[in-house]
Amino acid sequence: MPHPDHASIDLAVIGGSGLYKFPGLENTTRQAVDTPYGAASGDVVTGDFAGKRIAFLARHGEGHTLPPHRVNYRANLWALHSLGARRVVGVNAVGGIRGDMGPRMIVVPDQLIDYTHGRYTSYCDVEGAEVKHIDFSEPYTEALRLQLLAAARAANVEAIGGGCYGATQGPRLETRAEIARLKRDGCDLVGMTGMPEAALARELGLEYACLALVANFAAGCGDEAEISIEEIFAHLAAATAEVPRILGAMLQ
Ligand code: HPA
Repeated sequence: MPHPDHASIDLAVIGGSGLYKFPGLENTTRQAVDTPYGAASGDVVTGDFAGKRIAFLARHGEGHTLPPHRVNYRANLWALHSLGARRVVGVNAVGGIRGDMGPRMIVVPDQLIDYTHGRYTSYCDVEGAEVKHIDFSEPYTEALRLQLLAAARAANVEAIGGGCYGATQGPRLETRAEIARLKRDGCDLVGMTGMPEAALARELGLEYACLALVANFAAGCGDEAEISIEEIFAHLAAATAEVPRILGAMLQ
């Protein structure tokens, strides 16, 4: 059932690691949305931000209880779509592979390669569903990508436009050899949640872009012998603080 408010949702945001509540969201309502695909990661919180109506969903749950391979991506996007959202920004923590994509950098990728497995990747695999072969040459909505980049500029937040996101299975981080392979494949970033989210968004006809927050250099790409989770979360907290500024500028 569409929510009575549904026409007024200007933007949906899926928060990744480190973003479990959208700061500054006011007059909020929470909804547990029932979907044909099961439960979403949690309630969708709708509220006012920058004079617009935003729907927010924490991808891993508000207590970060769902690992990337257990996230119900289909239910999440279905829930946002059923509430009337038409454009979605996925905020994703990533490791940087390219030298200029170091910790705390914000990137709006324009390509991806999917290395995940065993996830439900389509709405077409339930009986009787229409089989759709979506065009995915450009996995992100270019107009939304450009809006994010223009907003980052307007908010004085450094952000890199373009780059290839390699989606890995997780929840473990990668080996150096795996990252070397991703690099040979042309990946600039690595994360665990970018797929199947982007493809499912396309199947539903949603506008979708990824706001990638670099938490660390991926294995073998920085100086550290090991990647520390404490450091990941410290860098993520810093980059996450810029997200409302970027989205606020985008909604102006
Ligand atoms: N690899 C995969 N996902 C990630 C990383 C990483 O190094 N850092 C944050 N998310």
